[in-house]
Amino acid sequence: MFSRLFRQRPAPAEQASQYHQIGGEESVRALAHRFYDIMATDPAAAELLAMHPQPMDGIRQRFFEFLSGWLGGPQLFVEKYGHPRLRARHLPFTIDIRMRDQWLHCMYLALDEQVPDPLLHQQLKAQFTHLAHHMINTDERGERM
Ligand code: HEM
Repeated sequence: MFSRLFRQRPAPAEQASQYHQIGGEESVRALAHRFYDIMATDPAAAELLAMHPQPMDGIRQRFFEFLSGWLGGPQLFVEKYGHPRLRARHLPFTIDIRMRDQWLHCMYLALDEQVPDPLLHQQLKAQFTHLAHHMINTDERGERM
């Protein structure tokens, strides 16, 4: 009898996915779009913006597709383009601590706006911080690492 009750519940992964918690496709899209809107308008991210080829429509869409899978939802990016190879994909760009911080500045503001749940907000902030740090490929003296 109990096993029947358990089977009727959603699978744990589905219950727990951040994609689901944040509010699904529209909310993930909103996070991606707000991130690039902030980058495009906030003077504190001017150097980061200058590094991005314009217009950013394609990048916005691919960032949304990446986030969808990364948050535990549909693997839209992987289905279209294969493994993201995120660090390798960013190697053509000079990413130092300064660029990391400008990227995180935009993402923290986007999270403040789009993710009201305190626990999820805190978790996503930690995950983005970790990943952004991993993207650094240039040290403070401008040398490649
Ligand atoms: C840490 C500082 C970062 C900098 C300076 C940076 C910079 C850039 C730039 C310049 C592009 C455009 C690439 C192109 O047009 O070819 C880009 C694209 C992208 N970035 Fe970042 N990025 C950073 C961190 C991150 C992080 C933490 C993530 C994931 C959470 C991420 C995910 C992406 C994705 C998915 C794309 C689109 C890739 C594509 O166009 O195929 N980036 N980034």
